[in-house]
Amino acid sequence: KVSDDIQQMLDAHDLLRKFYHHLLVNTKEGQHALEYLLNRGFTLESIKKFQIGYSLNSWDFVSKFLLKRNFTPQILEKAGLIIKRESDDSFFDRFRDRIMFPIFDRNGKTIAFSGRSLGQDEPKYLNSPETAIFNKSKILYNFHLAKPSIRKTSHSVIFEGFADVIAADRADVDNGIATMGTSLTEEHVGILKKIVQTVTICYDSDYAGIEAAYRAGKMLSSAGILVKVAMLSDGLDPDDYIKKYGTEKFRHEVIGSTVTWMSFKFLYFRRGKNLQNEGDRLLYIEEVLKEIGKLSKAVEIDHYLRQLAGEFSLSLDALKQQLQPISKNNK
Ligand code: CTP
Ligand code: MN
Ligand code: MN
Ligand code: MN
Ligand code: MN
Repeated sequence: KVSDDIQQMLDAHDLLRKFYHHLLVNTKEGQHALEYLLNRGFTLESIKKFQIGYSLNSWDFVSKFLLKRNFTPQILEKAGLIIKRESDDSFFDRFRDRIMFPIFDRNGKTIAFSGRSLGQDEPKYLNSPETAIFNKSKILYNFHLAKPSIRKTSHSVIFEGFADVIAADRADVDNGIATMGTSLTEEHVGILKKIVQTVTICYDSDYAGIEAAYRAGKMLSSAGILVKVAMLSDGLDPDDYIKKYGTEKFRHEVIGSTVTWMSFKFLYFRRGKNLQNEGDRLLYIEEVLKEIGKLSKAVEIDHYLRQLAGEFSLSLDALKQQLQPISKNNK
């Protein structure tokens, strides 16, 4: 049974989610925020499905709205919705003039918010703090809606951001999830491992995104999950890509054209190297051979050795010979 405090924190989030959504969709105050979203390619349908809202440009809207409904300031502060002023023990709203993305737990209860600024205001995304009901390292955005589809296919697509999950959903990719602005944790991997066989990583194609994809892929494959990587070009993220090229192209040419985890590593190890340079080339071959040495299936080993041999017209025999000692050391 949940404690009174927890129940009140959940109730406060539930009321606010509905009100933020109402403000965005139905009011004049929210109109500029709605226009911002529609300009970015969000549809009214996805705004409703993901219960996106708008927080007023006010210091005390939340306090007034919820204190009237018999919530105490102490509870609202604990829930991360209002913040105490140092000077006079009064409170102010955490989220002001932001697009509000409710964060749901696996049962569909609202447990936190992430608020995106409309302009260039920093931070771009402001998240609820960790509270008794919100633990960032365990929450996967959209898991509650995606779960049936993930279960059915034993497959999930993981994105970096909320906007990517929502844009992908427009492309009928309904098994998309995202972490909350943090890297993937072992807790996230544990949650996924229970219901997936395969995870497709579809992160931003900028430097940070590719690094994060490498780290996430290592964790997922160590947990025994089959990893695929869906790659974008030109530093785009999935949301940008869909805006630029449309949903069909995204489904077919991104989600439908993944590379294996091993092939992604081939590409990853090329980064920052000039393969015309002998030293770089030898380092690259060594790094890739080390990865191939970790494989256990003879067919796969053969496949990737041939791929590597083909890249530099090396002899397959030489590569096989070099593979032996590495593979022993790695076992
Ligand atoms: N993030 C965050 N705080 C920031 C920037 C990012 O918490 N100041 C998190 C958000 O969850 C965001 C994710 O990291 O969704 C990925 O960051 P980024 O790629 O910069 O944002 P986008 O999802 O592309 O956001 P948008 O399209 O709205 O610019
Ligand atoms: Mn990014
Ligand atoms: Mn992004
Ligand atoms: Mn984006
Ligand atoms: Mn199609």
